[in-house]
Amino acid sequence: MDKSSAGLLLAIETSCDETAVALCDSQGRIVCSQIASQIALHAPYGGVVPELASRNHNIVLKPLIASSLEEAKASWGSITAIAATSGPGLSSSLLIGDTTAKAIAAGLGCPFFSINHMEGHLLSPFIESGLEIPRHVALVVSGGHTLLVQVNGVGDYKILGTTKDDAAGEAFDKVGKMLELPYPGGPEISKWAENGDEERFDFPRSMIDSGDHDFSFSGLKTAARYTIEKLPEPLSETDLHDLCASFEAAVVEVLTKKLDTAVQESGEEFIAISGGVSCNTALRRSCQKLAEDRNWRLQMASPEFTTDNAAMIAFAAAARRYAGVAESPLNTDIDPNLTLGNSA
Ligand code: KG4
Ligand code: ZN
Repeated sequence: MDKSSAGLLLAIETSCDETAVALCDSQGRIVCSQIASQIALHAPYGGVVPELASRNHNIVLKPLIASSLEEAKASWGSITAIAATSGPGLSSSLLIGDTTAKAIAAGLGCPFFSINHMEGHLLSPFIESGLEIPRHVALVVSGGHTLLVQVNGVGDYKILGTTKDDAAGEAFDKVGKMLELPYPGGPEISKWAENGDEERFDFPRSMIDSGDHDFSFSGLKTAARYTIEKLPEPLSETDLHDLCASFEAAVVEVLTKKLDTAVQESGEEFIAISGGVSCNTALRRSCQKLAEDRNWRLQMASPEFTTDNAAMIAFAAAARRYAGVAESPLNTDIDPNLTLGNSA
């Protein structure tokens, strides 16, 4: 191993509303992962306010880097590579992490890796198993994306399917808002769904038999709105439990069925799931059952790495380095609309 790859890699993630910093070694092993959550800051608005998010990244990032170095008992001298999320996300948020990371890289004279946030999610199921990424089909479900991806290796990704409208997490959050649940709606719906009757409301499974690998969740969201409007106000606890359970069951069934079809078509026998929605217990159970029934290997991002974090950015950078991908020039721009296809 050459000297430049022997130290630690420092990664910064500020694509949306979480300020996150992580350190990993040259094998991608996470040494520390810290997140300063802005959920409480945005909760009163029912969604992320970009101006507030970037201002808060600016305030929080420097102390978070300092406390990460302290937790890892690492000095600046032990940092030999820097990574930052360059997109997709909010441009004013991305800029804070990106420019900070570039300034550190320039100051230390070490390589900089510009990382696609979605590649971070995509590779996150492998954080605890090392840098050899097997061929597999991935389901990436977050607040902004719903993707089925054929992964042939690091940087070699083929999008098999995506959403035509809302992302799965977005649908969870919008229905959560309709139900006046705290923001973000995903984890709240998941909690309320636990004791509910998932068969009480017959919500649509849009595009489940469309013959392709794409998704649509806006019809489901509209069906939820009409159903809520017809129920007596205020909603009883039973209604809330049953609505959440029925909605969650519809999302989980579509995601699982589409994953099943895509994997069968691909001929792969290895699946991975990641992204904030992959934290959902019902989805995890359903994917586990699918893998058992089909005798496929399944790797799921561990819950702490499902929602936004910098460990996944550090790991993706380490995986790119390990796979021989060149560092990024310091004039690499952020791209709020970066896709997996254009990041390799
Ligand atoms: O990956 P992520 O942190 O951010 C994006 O890159 O978008 O995903 C956030 C999304 C939100 O929509 C949130 O409601 C959803 O993940 N989420 C969940 C759960 N935990 C987070 N959705 C359903 N069930 C959960 N337990
Ligand atoms: Zn994310």
